[in-house]
Amino acid sequence: MSSLDPELLDRLCEVALEAARHAYAPYSKFYVGAALLFDDGAIVTGCNVENVSYGLSSCAERNALFRAISESGAGRKIRAIAVANRNNAASTPCGACRQVMAEFVTPDAVIAFPGDHGRQTVPFAEIFPCAFTFTPDARQETQ
Ligand code: THU
Repeated sequence: MSSLDPELLDRLCEVALEAARHAYAPYSKFYVGAALLFDDGAIVTGCNVENVSYGLSSCAERNALFRAISESGAGRKIRAIAVANRNNAASTPCGACRQVMAEFVTPDAVIAFPGDHGRQTVPFAEIFPCAFTFTPDARQETQ
């Protein structure tokens, strides 16, 4: 597991919980925040944003990630991700967010989220083995 300073992880979780204050979740009323820690020390946050057309809603984790890349490019890697919610509910990052994270995390990145018995911290590789990958060499013209 990555040697992440426990105090830094505490701080990341606090920041994620704070980010959840901005969640726009009038439909599910599940208020989620995410905080990404990059290898240059930067922390970028996001919250979930829902829409009356439910399927258009977007998770806190992906919003944080897209925000980070929009603001600073994709040259940095993510060392840790904290996810929190204001509902005091156990909740892991959804599968779609894991697939998106997979492209930007360091090999030893850790994910912290509220588990059934308090905070759980798990190596990313453990919660998302066998990510989909695609090599351009595998492309073929349609027949
Ligand atoms: N949600 C997140 O923001 N992150 C997750 O990892 C799981 C789900 C949001 C999406 C939706 O706005 C609400 O939680 C209920 O699913």
